[in-house]
Amino acid sequence: MMGVEMKIRVEHKSLVDFKCDLLAVNVFEGEKKLDGAAAAADRALGGLVSRLVRSGEITGKLGETTLFHLGAGRAKKVVIVGLGKRDKFDLEAVRTAASAVIKKAREVRAKIVASIVHGASCGCLDQRDSAKALVEGSVLGVYKFPGYAKEKETPDFQIRELVLIDSDAKKIKPFSAGAKLGLIIAEAENHARDLVNEPSNKMTPTAFAKLAQHIAKINGLKFVSLDPKREGMEALWAVAKGSSEPPRLVALEYRGNPRSKEKIALIGKGITFDSGGISLKSPKRMDEMKSDMAGAAAVLGTMSLLADLKPKKNVIGVIPLTENMPSGHATKPGDVVGSLSGYTIEVTNTDAEGRMILADAITYAKKRGATKLIDVATLTGGCITALGDAATGIMGNDQALLDRIIEVGNRCGQRLWQLPIYDEYKNALKSAIADIKNTSGTGKASPSSGASFLAKFVGETPWAHLDIAGTAFLDKARGYLPEGATGVPVRTLIEFLVS
Ligand code: BES
Ligand code: ZN
Ligand code: ZN
Repeated sequence: MMGVEMKIRVEHKSLVDFKCDLLAVNVFEGEKKLDGAAAAADRALGGLVSRLVRSGEITGKLGETTLFHLGAGRAKKVVIVGLGKRDKFDLEAVRTAASAVIKKAREVRAKIVASIVHGASCGCLDQRDSAKALVEGSVLGVYKFPGYAKEKETPDFQIRELVLIDSDAKKIKPFSAGAKLGLIIAEAENHARDLVNEPSNKMTPTAFAKLAQHIAKINGLKFVSLDPKREGMEALWAVAKGSSEPPRLVALEYRGNPRSKEKIALIGKGITFDSGGISLKSPKRMDEMKSDMAGAAAVLGTMSLLADLKPKKNVIGVIPLTENMPSGHATKPGDVVGSLSGYTIEVTNTDAEGRMILADAITYAKKRGATKLIDVATLTGGCITALGDAATGIMGNDQALLDRIIEVGNRCGQRLWQLPIYDEYKNALKSAIADIKNTSGTGKASPSSGASFLAKFVGETPWAHLDIAGTAFLDKARGYLPEGATGVPVRTLIEFLVS
């Protein structure tokens, strides 16, 4: 595993004076008049840019890039990136444009890349936020899982530096603050992506727990790694017992406000591989089930940022870790098992394992004094059916908490859409022989049904459940999101904790 080693710098300089391999300037869609930086590039190119804008060859569509070689001047090449329509322009557009630029830079093997800060240069967006979004889009956009291939089609290329430049000295301070924040958040998100992209034979529960311990250590977080069976986590053990890989439950605690009794628990589903168990999944795309620990990766990524960002809150990250495998030792459909809460569970479907391990993790978080619960899980295929990869499903028992998460998610480009928890779904989980069953068996409304199961273990504690089944792992790259793991919802969680 490897992070992106691209340095970020902010410099007070005029565009024409900056020596670089590639300089990025921008145009808005449908606007013939060029902004300051694009106009300067146009002059250096003898009016070529404005001619192409007038002829419609440069449209300004969001993420469109047009590359020019400069004969003279300090920049070797210049790229004109489209920002889309001005009235739709926002921080998410900045991320998308920045990602298009950095991909172009990699393609043309530019070592030193300079960019004006889209959004701040036109005065449309907050200066600090624009610089943060630009760095996020660049660092997230350039991400590539290194993988294990010995033979590579294209040799790796490392962009050495991204420099944000502006000739206005007053902008340097907000740019630097935004760039610094954007870099650490995006790097944590990329790290979460790495963990999810890692195959399940490498990212075992044991390997994940070791990594969590390392992250806790370097950040000074209190850490425990528990054996679920010994702790009476019978629901988690019911999932784990079919596998040869030993399960774990790890907790990392950050105390930013020691005098307060408030404690937010972030709970991440950590199924390192979900075969379905005895209720075996079909082979089609089963390989993608290595990503069933994306919730765990996002929680660990978020916890890794707290020592740096120092929010005045107490936060505990709780991560239940196991494989879900069929074997002679595995839990069978119809089995009744206990749980840390004391409730008994009839396991009607062993593929509904996420809610089992989360049930014990939720109870554990409450025992550790959590006053607010946020769980993150690739919980249901039904959430993909409902929302695709356009939004994370959010459910819970505290509307103010849900509204707040939806609002911060929207602000940082990670959309969430609320789904209901009606009594009908809870009633459908009534079991004839246990306190609850883990599926309704109807196949209906599975995201809401899954949340209804969790609600039993949550009780009255304010709680939000994020179903990231559709948003955590993509089959096709989009904007600054790569194919494979996306790192969702690290940015939302961190924004929630720091704002
Ligand atoms: N990990 C899956 C959900 C999932 C599916 C995530 C596809 C990402 C992509 C989860 O454990 C699962 O299998 N859920 C079942 C629940 C059902 C048995 C009620 C599902 O969605 O089919
Ligand atoms: Zn499953
Ligand atoms: Zn699963």
